[in-house]
Amino acid sequence: MKLKFHVEQMKEMVMARIICVANQKGGVGKTTTSVNLAAALANLDKKVLLVDMDPQGNASSGLGMKKHEFQDRTVYNLLIGEKSVEECRLQTSLPNLDIITATPDLVGAEIELVDAERREMRLKDALSTIKDEYHYILIDCPPSLGLITLNSLSAANTFLVPLQCEYFALEGLSQLLNTAGLIKKGLNTELKIEGIVLTMFDVRNNLSHQVVSEIQTHFSDKVFQAIIPRNVRLSEAPSYGQSIIQYDPKSIGAIRYMELAKELDDKVYGASEYSRLSEEPKLELERDANV
Ligand SMILES: Nc1ncnc2c1ncn2[C@@H]1O[C@H](COP(=O)(O)OP(=O)(O)O)[C@@H](O)[C@H]1O
Ligand SMILES: [Mg+2]
Repeated sequence: MKLKFHVEQMKEMVMARIICVANQKGGVGKTTTSVNLAAALANLDKKVLLVDMDPQGNASSGLGMKKHEFQDRTVYNLLIGEKSVEECRLQTSLPNLDIITATPDLVGAEIELVDAERREMRLKDALSTIKDEYHYILIDCPPSLGLITLNSLSAANTFLVPLQCEYFALEGLSQLLNTAGLIKKGLNTELKIEGIVLTMFDVRNNLSHQVVSEIQTHFSDKVFQAIIPRNVRLSEAPSYGQSIIQYDPKSIGAIRYMELAKELDDKVYGASEYSRLSEEPKLELERDANV
């Protein structure tokens, strides 16, 4: 009885895994992965918050958020301290999934915060009051390396890298790992890599196969086993304001993102649901910085 009580008590003690979805290359599947992984985790009954940190706001529109609903309650208003995190987080049409939206205003934050106190820690500080309400907080990063990305990587426990299965994929990756190495030395000593997700895999393209095997050889257990194929349903879903889980749950894109969510969740909260707070991702950053 006593043990049961203890276990129940521990269950309430959720502390979000904050994962920054990052790659300095554009068009590699960061937003597609952020939106659909968030939706798939929510579908596994996890409480999820998605933070759109890209001024393009594609994650926000991709989840059907309408501009008039979140006017002046975006991540920009949050970062400059105009609004509280409670005011800025909004419900999406998916149960278990909340979002903090972005608009092109966000570009202004880079400039407005130049002289601000703890300017790289704005997001981390804002999330600190609500992080225990979620299992996961996913941050969709822009491709640039400005203050917005620094805020994202400073707030995160880990970063997850979508890597397009193409010839130059590794270029962006080594750049990102160098950046993360620097952030680990300065702003966020706890930062670790969550893993690499291979995206836009084309089964008929020999190069795709070569890239996958090269990356798996280089990064072994850091590469998620779920590989996201090129799937037209994934590119259609955002124009309907829906995640792939809602738009076409039977599509191969939906199935793979569900597998990815399961794989991540097993790794983070794993077989031992109650040891999750002490679980660290196995991946070491220092080793990667030389790649
Ligand atoms: N697995 C996929 N299959 C087909 N299209 C994809 C896939 N992943 C992303 N896309 C499309 O590729 C483009 C770039 O993806 P996006 O997720 O916006 O990249 P990023 O956020 O890294 O710039 C978008 O038009 C998106 O719909
Ligand atoms: Mg994007």
